[in-house]
Amino acid sequence: MDLGLSDRVALVTGASSGIGLACVEQLLGEGARVCAVARSVTPLDDLIRRYPDQLVTSSCDLTTTEGCDAAVSTCMSAFGGVDVLVNSAGAAEAVPVLELTREVIDEALLLKLHGYLRMSQRVAPMMVGRGWGRIVMVAGSAGTSPTADNFPISLANIGIHNLVRSLTDALTPSGVLVNAVSPGLTRTPRVETVLARRSADEGIPIADLVDAISAALPAGRIAEPEEVARAVCFLASEAASYVQASVLYLDGGARRATP
Ligand SMILES: NC(=O)c1ccc[n+]([C@@H]2O[C@H](COP(=O)([O-])OP(=O)(O)OC[C@H]3O[C@@H](n4cnc5c(N)ncnc54)[C@H](OP(=O)(O)O)[C@@H]3O)[C@@H](O)[C@H]2O)c1
Repeated sequence: MDLGLSDRVALVTGASSGIGLACVEQLLGEGARVCAVARSVTPLDDLIRRYPDQLVTSSCDLTTTEGCDAAVSTCMSAFGGVDVLVNSAGAAEAVPVLELTREVIDEALLLKLHGYLRMSQRVAPMMVGRGWGRIVMVAGSAGTSPTADNFPISLANIGIHNLVRSLTDALTPSGVLVNAVSPGLTRTPRVETVLARRSADEGIPIADLVDAISAALPAGRIAEPEEVARAVCFLASEAASYVQASVLYLDGGARRATP
């Protein structure tokens, strides 16, 4: 299937690692030009070395309005516009709900909910002007599966479901389609760190932790970042021309009991 992404311009946040990095690599593979955004300079420099002709990078903090402005402005200067926005930046800590402070909740929402909204606000008008655009949000299954430890990120993720709907209403009909993916546990550097900490705390080998999590999933395993990125590329493409206001669950069947 031709995704029609050749020469499209994609701005990807969270591009230095995990799901965002996998999205960058697959969008480049489809022939898109990419503006890769994250704070850490070293992984962004590595991307530039690997893809000198198709890619620019912007090192900025997306919890600030200045950071969001800088990301969009880098993409505009390099490529003259933005056809596709992939919002993937996220970094929430697991904190027991009875110990949560307002600061921890605010921090999670600042990056993942306000950041996704701010970036969408900055690119949507130009997409509307061109009569074509795709905004793809990386939410997460915590949005519909709150636990004792994940309240801030679950709040951000369910907020993103509603953001997808609100943006769809605001941008219809304009050719700008807004959708989200909602991954379950995915093997990224952030998850490797969380599992390593849990393994040390509980004295259980990481492989055994992964086996226990996997056994509870119909898929029998956790996801790889490339599997999430493939779905993001589809939603970012011409091929998704009749998909709007949707959340695509990539959770290995974990939600099977929910209608
Ligand atoms: N992995 C999972 O199991 C899973 C499941 C469901 C949903 N998700 C969602 O998927 C997204 C990506 O997660 P991941 O697991 O791929 O995490 P990751 O490997 O830690 O990547 C997170 C990315 O976000 C960037 N980032 C963090 N804070 C930022 C800030 N203030 N400004 C700009 N960029 C920032 C990081 O780069 P710098 O640190 O260099 O800034 C990095 O590129 C997140 O939204 C997460 O909630 C993940």
